[in-house]
Amino acid sequence: MRLLVSITVMLFFMFTFSLSTHLKPEVVGPLGDQLFEAAKSPEFFHWMVNIRRKIHEYPELGFEEIKTSELIRAELEKLGVEYTWPVAKTGVVATIGSGQQPLFALRADMDALPIQELVDWDHRSKIDGKMHACGHDSHVAMLLGAAKLLQSKRHELKGTVKLIFQPGEEGMAGAYHMLKHSALDDIKAAFAIHVLPFYPVGFVASRPGPVLAGSGRFTATIRGTGGHAATPHYSKDPIVAASMAVVALQQIVSRETDPLESRVVTIGQINGGQADNVIPESVRIGGTYRSLSNQGLIDTKTRIKEVIEAQAAVHQCQAEIDFKEETPLPYPVTVNDEGMYEHAKTVAEIILGKPKVHLLPVTMGGEDFSFFTQKMPSAVFVIGSRNQSHVPEHLHSPHFVIDEEALKVGAVFHAAVAISYLDTYHHGVHDEL
Ligand SMILES: *[C@@H]1O[C@H](CO)[C@@H](O)[C@H](O)[C@H]1NC(C)=O
Repeated sequence: MRLLVSITVMLFFMFTFSLSTHLKPEVVGPLGDQLFEAAKSPEFFHWMVNIRRKIHEYPELGFEEIKTSELIRAELEKLGVEYTWPVAKTGVVATIGSGQQPLFALRADMDALPIQELVDWDHRSKIDGKMHACGHDSHVAMLLGAAKLLQSKRHELKGTVKLIFQPGEEGMAGAYHMLKHSALDDIKAAFAIHVLPFYPVGFVASRPGPVLAGSGRFTATIRGTGGHAATPHYSKDPIVAASMAVVALQQIVSRETDPLESRVVTIGQINGGQADNVIPESVRIGGTYRSLSNQGLIDTKTRIKEVIEAQAAVHQCQAEIDFKEETPLPYPVTVNDEGMYEHAKTVAEIILGKPKVHLLPVTMGGEDFSFFTQKMPSAVFVIGSRNQSHVPEHLHSPHFVIDEEALKVGAVFHAAVAISYLDTYHHGVHDEL
């Protein structure tokens, strides 16, 4: 056992050591400067900003990203970049480089949220009830920015970069559906960026290992027998049954989970009844469950079903629970690969400076990039996008804003991670590991 541990530790250090020796600051430094120089040119920056604003004005929900996908393809064509489409309905996979291994993937999500934008600005959403409140509009603009930077260096790339524009991240597992397509075969490693208003522009953050929770959703329909409010004894009241179920569900985390483990069960909606003096036939509740371990997800899901069914039965009602497994949900835990994390972190430290690279706290948010992390060494980093003229708003807020300066950092970070990955691993170092 001891021996095994020390071998593992030794291997870990060899791995980290080989990464830092292969990533040369004297190469990555000037590369970063050069990329930033290009991204700072007014022409380049305005081009990215315009793309982001156009997408922001016409937000599209998951698997409906028709205009967004069209815009991406039109820009790739103008850049002379080849692409495969459709991949998972609206998805686009662009290819830049030699066409040979190593194949490295950069990923952006394209979908918006069913939220009414409440920000008063020139480019607010023109579609009622839909908004880019999670920054995916900026993710697309950054990745197109990276496409332009990479295309200008296509003859120097020591391998191939796949730029993945993905549909349906918000609960529809777009990543899962894209990964089934042959356009994503044989990719050696993947990298993704997410904006985060918590940090100012110029900062990036991430962590090795689990970084975002595995997350699933469910709805439960609790059926009773409706009737007059004055004669409850002739009814089976689903409102009381649903209320007891909601309260009982709170004990899964507080009483059944190791206090040192992280899980969440939240009920986000209750719908039932139409009149104050009528007992309805049924009540629908819906919620989400999360865990930092895949076993935790499975256990939580099992208990949600048992608790709701049993609480319904106590009140002589029936429950039917839908875990949306056809979607497919839950999303697995997002686990950053140690090596890929170290690589991107080192690149960030060289191009942005060490003080601007932070260790990101784990959060219970979910992300379908987790399907990439399950399949290949991958890492997701957040980049600061705080707009100084606004109180920082959370992702998914109707008041969500970004600082568009973040687009430059995103484009450069994407391109620098990809180029240096190919430089580092084109001799097959990664395969040996
Ligand atoms: C900050 O957000 C506002 C939207 O309210 C926007 O008009 C402005 O351009 C943003 N600032 C930057 C630097 O992007």
